[in-house]
Amino acid sequence: MLKRIKHVVSIIECRSAGVAIRELSTSRPYSCRGQPSYQSHPHLLKQGEVCPGLTQAEFATRRWRLMQAVSADASNNLLLIMSATTRYMSNDIPYPYHQDTDFLYLCGFQQPGGVLVLHSEPTQTREHVSALFVPRRDPARELWDGPRSGPDGAAELTGIDLAFPIDELPGYLSRFRDPAWTLWCNELDLDHPGWLRRSFDVVLGEARHDARLRSPNNYLQLLRLVKSPAEQHLMEMAAKITAQALVDTMATCKAPVDEAYLYAKFEFECRVRGAEILAYPPVIAGGNRANTLHYVKNNQIIKNGELVLVDGGCEYRNYASDVTRTWPVNGRFSAVQVAVYEAVLRVQRACVAQCRPGTTLQHLQQLMLTLLEDELQELRIVDTQLDHSEKRKATQRYCPHHVGHFLGLDVHDSPSVPHNLPLQPAMLLTIEPGLYIPEGDDKAPAAFRGIGVRIEDDILITDTGARVLSAGCPTDPEDIESICGSR
Ligand code: GLY
Ligand code: MN
Ligand code: MN
Repeated sequence: MLKRIKHVVSIIECRSAGVAIRELSTSRPYSCRGQPSYQSHPHLLKQGEVCPGLTQAEFATRRWRLMQAVSADASNNLLLIMSATTRYMSNDIPYPYHQDTDFLYLCGFQQPGGVLVLHSEPTQTREHVSALFVPRRDPARELWDGPRSGPDGAAELTGIDLAFPIDELPGYLSRFRDPAWTLWCNELDLDHPGWLRRSFDVVLGEARHDARLRSPNNYLQLLRLVKSPAEQHLMEMAAKITAQALVDTMATCKAPVDEAYLYAKFEFECRVRGAEILAYPPVIAGGNRANTLHYVKNNQIIKNGELVLVDGGCEYRNYASDVTRTWPVNGRFSAVQVAVYEAVLRVQRACVAQCRPGTTLQHLQQLMLTLLEDELQELRIVDTQLDHSEKRKATQRYCPHHVGHFLGLDVHDSPSVPHNLPLQPAMLLTIEPGLYIPEGDDKAPAAFRGIGVRIEDDILITDTGARVLSAGCPTDPEDIESICGSR
C-alpha cells in the first residue's frame, strides 16, 4: 500500500504559474538530512529554499511549465526523471556525487537513488502531480555514507506534492499501464540498478518500445535555456568568481611555472570564494600544448617566453561558468604572440557585440569564421591567393571548434537546441574564438608555430543586448601584462 507522507501544510498560490505549492509548517521537528537545508545550513539557504537561492515555488513553476509543454503534444502524460547513480573510483570509494542536471532542475534533490514522477492528475482535481521516490532511511548505510533525507525529509525540503520510498515505485507506476498514457522517459543506462530496469520493464511492458514512449529532452532543454532571475544571479556569481580566480592566478604567475601549480591556484581561488567544485577539468596548457583542445594533463613546466592558456570555470551552487584567458607566463607578450592575441581579441569583441535578442549561434559562428579568415590573411598565416573554399578550410583548421555554446547547470547546456534558434533575453552562452597553430604546422610561418590562443567569456542576453558576466578578468593585453606577476 502506498502511504502518503503526512504533512502539516498550508497551500499558497504561485500566481505567476498558476500552481499550488506547499509551505511547510515549522511546528514539527525538522527531518531533512543528506543535503544542506535552511535548518542545517542557514549560511547557505533561506527559509523556503530547496537549493541555495532557489525556492520551492521556483521548482514548482519549472515542473508546471514542463507539464504544460508536454500537454501541448499529448493529454495523459507520465514523466519519469532519474537521479544520477553513484559512481565508484575503486572498491567502496565513490567519486564525488554529481546529480543529474534535469533531475536537479526539476526538484533540487541532490542525493542519489531517486526518481521523480510527474503525471497529469486523472481525477482532474489539480493540473498535475509531482511525486518523488527516494531511498528509505537506513541507519546501517548512513553510518558509512552519512545521513540521507528519506521520503519525509525529501518532501519537507522540496515541498513536492508526494514523496515515497523508492521500493514503492513499481506499485505506483502500475496504474499507468493503460495505453492512453504517453510515457516521457529517457532510456535507462547500464549504471541504473537492475531492479529499476526490471520494474520499468514489468510496469511499462510493451510501451517501452512503442510510439507512446517519448523523450522529454527537447522540452527540458528549451525550458532550461531561459534562466529565471534567481538563476541569472547564480550564474553571474559563478562567472565573477571564475574571473577573479583567473586574475589571482595570473597575478602569481612567474616563469617557469608548473601547470599543476596554476591548476591548484585557480581551483583554490574558486573554492575560497564559495564555489563547491570546478565545473569541468580545466585546461592549463603552456606553449604548444594549448593546441590540444582538450589538454587536461596539466603536468608540464611552462617555460619562460611561452604563453599559457587557462580554460577553467567554477560550479557555484550547481551553476557552471566557463572562461578562458591566455597570457604570457613571464608577463610580457612577444610581438608575434600579441599579434595573434589581438587578432583573436578583435574577433571575440566583434562576436560579443553581436550578442542580442534575435541573433543566433549559427550567425555568430559564420561571423567568427569570416573575421578569423580576414585576420589569418592579415597575419600572412593564410595565403590571400587561395580560393574561397580553401581559405575557409584553412580557417577551420586553425579554429576547429564552435564560437560558443549555451551555459547553465551544465557547461555545455541544452546541447540539442538548434543553432538557428533566435537568442532571447535571459539566455546564457559563451563566446570563445581561438587560433591554434601547432608547432608541426609547416604551412604557417615558423614564427607563429606553437602558439595557441583562446579568449572565452560568459554572456547573458538582455532585453537590449548582452552583458559579459566574466568581465572581471580583463582581456586587453596591457591590462593582462600589468596583472601578470604583480603579486
Ligand atoms: N571548457 C569547455 C568549453 O570551452 O567548451
Ligand atoms: Mn571553456
Ligand atoms: Mn566553452
